[in-house]
Amino acid sequence: MKGTAVITGASTGIGRALAFEFVRRGYHVGLTARRLPALVELREELLAADKTGKLRIEITTLDVDDDASVGPIMATLFENLGAVDIVVVNAGINDFTSVGKGDFAREKQLLQTNLIGAIATVHAAVEYFRPRGAGHIVGISSLAALQGMPKQAAYCASKAGFSMYLDAARIELKHKNIRITKILPGFVKTSIMPHIGKYPFAVTAEQAATEMVTIIESGKALGFVPAFPWKWLRPLFGHLPDSIWKKFS
Ligand SMILES: NC(=O)c1ccc[n+]([C@@H]2O[C@H](COP(=O)([O-])OP(=O)(O)OC[C@H]3O[C@@H](n4cnc5c(N)ncnc54)[C@H](OP(=O)(O)O)[C@@H]3O)[C@@H](O)[C@H]2O)c1
Repeated sequence: MKGTAVITGASTGIGRALAFEFVRRGYHVGLTARRLPALVELREELLAADKTGKLRIEITTLDVDDDASVGPIMATLFENLGAVDIVVVNAGINDFTSVGKGDFAREKQLLQTNLIGAIATVHAAVEYFRPRGAGHIVGISSLAALQGMPKQAAYCASKAGFSMYLDAARIELKHKNIRITKILPGFVKTSIMPHIGKYPFAVTAEQAATEMVTIIESGKALGFVPAFPWKWLRPLFGHLPDSIWKKFS
């Protein structure tokens, strides 16, 4: 086998597709999310698809909102897996919120899950990797980290915050041989938002996962998914007229 990858938010969407892609490429996997039945079902499907007979899968419930529990739960998962090479910080939520219209609690929730929960997960991974002198952390951020969008202020802030955290951590941890990859997806057809398939250049979770694992295996610090067209449109973010982004609300 090639190694072991741990994925948060593996019960559905991108995380679930990543689990299939890692297994297809010969990795053992550790899978976490809040919904245990979905993880149990996923484990069965992955084991049924495995042709090597060597696949190791560990699953555990993890609510990243309970940030004090993230370290101990991840440490037990890492121990049960034996050795872990890659941790994908993927768990996240989205919500349409309005500024100054009573949505503060929902905005706070977005920041709790996408920023504080994600940072807690990075801590758990680094605590494991530091004494081993090696490891790879992958943060699933978003194009929303590059561009403010109406009704997405808190989501954009959570992803911009996580992106900056990953950038700083990457420099801090380089000499410890702990690699950080930041992935910025565009639109991926999952249940994270209604009608997401109508957004431009939307791809399936399977397509996204294939591109993501290729980026991860390349060891790059940054990847856009799908690479076309977002990699090439990147310089435009933050410079296009506001009217364009109104369409996304
Ligand atoms: N889809 C897109 O277009 C898109 C674009 C850019 C970035 N992203 C990012 O990609 C990541 C995955 O999104 P997705 O599209 O695959 O969404 P999804 O289908 O809704 O999946 C989200 C996953 O996160 C888990 N999760 C949510 N809250 C959690 C919590 N408090 N603790 C632990 N796990 C939690 C969910 O599992 P449980 O409910 O079982 O806990 C689920 O497995 C997110 O970080 C998202 O922001 C997505």
